[in-house]
Amino acid sequence: MNVYDAIITRRSTRRFQRRAVPEEILEKLIEAGRYAPSGGNNQTTHFFVITDRDVLAELADKAQQAFAKMEVSEGTYPSLASSILRSKQGGYVFHYGCPVLIVTANRKDYGNNIADCACALENMMIMGNELDLGTCWINQLKWLNEDPALLEIFRGYGLREDERICGALAVGYAESENGLPERRPLERKGNEVTRI
Ligand SMILES: Cc1cc2nc3c(=O)[nH]c(=O)nc-3n(C[C@H](O)[C@H](O)[C@H](O)COP(=O)(O)O)c2cc1C
Repeated sequence: MNVYDAIITRRSTRRFQRRAVPEEILEKLIEAGRYAPSGGNNQTTHFFVITDRDVLAELADKAQQAFAKMEVSEGTYPSLASSILRSKQGGYVFHYGCPVLIVTANRKDYGNNIADCACALENMMIMGNELDLGTCWINQLKWLNEDPALLEIFRGYGLREDERICGALAVGYAESENGLPERRPLERKGNEVTRI
């Protein structure tokens, strides 16, 4: 697959097989994230690659508990409102039961923290498509990046005092008939282009 095809056919995957991603494939994906550009060549994105099923379950549990305590109001961002309402019902797994969750953190007071993490996440999404992996950007841990229980878990794995989670990526083989991610591009209805 060339870069154009990898970009145009990349789609989000939200149903994953349980099977693990082989280590050499995962290494390539992580490398794609680490070779993303960064503001001022700072390279301060901190990648947490989580494959331990117990940790993934614990994160889902803690996130659900945190969302369940929140309330939805008129202006609540729709995806956040959905996370809150589904958590109140119970059984909400924000990472879709993926076998690999790559969490990206960065310095909380660095102006390009989210931009740098987004470059890394996009690189991994494109590379994931090339590697026949399904991927999906996961924002829930960013919304909860001041939650004490989640902070404590990540501190335990080396999240520094001045770092916060900026985004995450669910990764794994798609639960589809052929085991491949959906590759039909969505119609472009926005992303206006003004040529001058
Ligand atoms: C900044 C950002 C945040 C997103 N957060 C989530 C998320 O938390 N959960 C999710 O399932 N998808 C999330 N997505 C995926 C979008 O829903 C998806 O990219 C969009 O619907 C277009 O579909 P496609 O990726 O298949 O082209 C996010 C995407 C971006 C760029």
